[in-house]
Amino acid sequence: MSLFVSCGPGIETLLSDELAEIGFHETSIGFCGVHVRITPAEVTMDAVYAINYRSRLASRVLLPLHQFRCYDEKALYRSADKVDWTRFFRKGQTLAIDANVSHPRLRNSLFCAQVVKDAICDQLRNTMGSRPSVDLKSPDVQLNLFIHDDEAVISFDTSGDALHKRGYRQDAGEAPLQESMAAVLLKLAKYKGDEILIDPCCGSGTILIEAALIASNTAPGYLRKRWGFFNHPDFVNEQWLIVKNEIDSLRKDLLPKHFYGSEIDSEVARLCRANLRAAGFLDSVEVVRLDFADYTPSVQPHVLVTNPPHGRRLKDDLSALCALYRRLGDFMKQKLAKPGRGYVFVANPDLAKEVGLAPKRRHVLSNGGVESRLLEFDLY
Ligand SMILES: C[S@@+](CC[C@H](N)C(=O)[O-])C[C@H]1O[C@@H](n2cnc3c(N)ncnc32)[C@H](O)[C@@H]1O
Repeated sequence: MSLFVSCGPGIETLLSDELAEIGFHETSIGFCGVHVRITPAEVTMDAVYAINYRSRLASRVLLPLHQFRCYDEKALYRSADKVDWTRFFRKGQTLAIDANVSHPRLRNSLFCAQVVKDAICDQLRNTMGSRPSVDLKSPDVQLNLFIHDDEAVISFDTSGDALHKRGYRQDAGEAPLQESMAAVLLKLAKYKGDEILIDPCCGSGTILIEAALIASNTAPGYLRKRWGFFNHPDFVNEQWLIVKNEIDSLRKDLLPKHFYGSEIDSEVARLCRANLRAAGFLDSVEVVRLDFADYTPSVQPHVLVTNPPHGRRLKDDLSALCALYRRLGDFMKQKLAKPGRGYVFVANPDLAKEVGLAPKRRHVLSNGGVESRLLEFDLY
C-alpha cells in the first residue's frame, strides 16, 4: 500500500524530508508529490491522519483505490466500474473528481473526470437506486484521477480541501502568499522555531503565522474542522482523536519577543491582526503599521523572511520598487543581529539586484506558476 502526497512543483525533496521527520522514511519522489510506502506495521488510516494533520508543505494526501492501464475512454469507464463504489457513497452524498491527464488519445482532464463520474453514477444507480450529485465546492467525497500515458490511478482524496487552507485566514491582502509556500520559505530558511524572526513587509501575516505554528509545535491542521478522510469508510473517529491528541499534546507556548512584522497599509495591517487573532497568536506577535524603514523592533531579529511587493501582481511603479528593495538591503545591514540571515522571496530578478548584497544562494521556486527565487543573504 502506498499513499501519494502531492505538493507544488519543485517542492518534492523538501516534502520527502518533512515526511521523514514526521516518521515516514520509505518514500520515493514522483511528479509534484511523494509516494509513501506504508509498511505492514503502520496502519494506513493512522498514516492518513498524521500526514494530513502534520504536513506543512503538502497539498493533498491521496489514497489509491484502483491502478490500471488506460488505453482509451472505454477502458477508463470499465476500470472505474471495477471499484465497489457502494463502499464509498451513502445515499444523498455528493461527489467531485479532480483530474490530471496527459494521454495520447484521451481528450482532456475534464472529459476523463466525466467518464469516471458516469461509471460511478451508473453503478450506484443500478445497485442503490440513486446516484450522487456533483458538488465542486464542498463535496462529501473528493476523488482524484491521474493518467500519465497509459498508467492511471483513481484515488480517494483524504484531505478534501487543499492542505494549505489552514483555517486561520479571515481575509487576505492583495497578494497573499499561500500558507504552504510560506512554510516552504521557512523550511529553506532552516527556521526551527527558536530564533527571533521578522517579516518587514508582512502583509496579511502568512509568514509570521506559519513561523509561530512551527515555534509552538502546532500542527498546521490544528484549526481545520473538515477533512476528506471523515467520509472514508475506514475512518474511525476515536482513532483519529488519539492521533490528533497525541500530536496536540506537544504544543507549547511561544517565547515572548520572538516575532516582529511591519506593514505599511493600515487595512492590510488590520487583516494581519485578524488572522493572528484567528490563529491564536495575536498577543505573541508584534505587528506595527509602519514603513519598515521607520521600524526598529525592541529586540534585534536574527532571521528575516519576507516577500516584498514584486511588481507583477501588485501594480507598483518600477522606480519606487527599486528604492524599496534598496531600503530592504539597508534594513538587513542595519537592523538584523550579526551574524544573521535574510531571505527575500522575489519574482523579478531586476528588483533582486537592487538589494545591494550578494546572495549566498538562490532557491528557485514556482509561486502560483510564476518562477520566483528565495534569495539567501548572510549578514556579518
Ligand atoms: C507581497 S505582499 C506580502 C504578502 C504577505 N506575505 C502575505 O502573506 O499576505 C507585500 C506587502 O508589503 C507591504 N509593503 C509595501 N511597502 C512596504 C513598506 N515600505 N513597509 C512595510 N510594508 C510594505 C504591502 O502593503 C504588501 O502588503
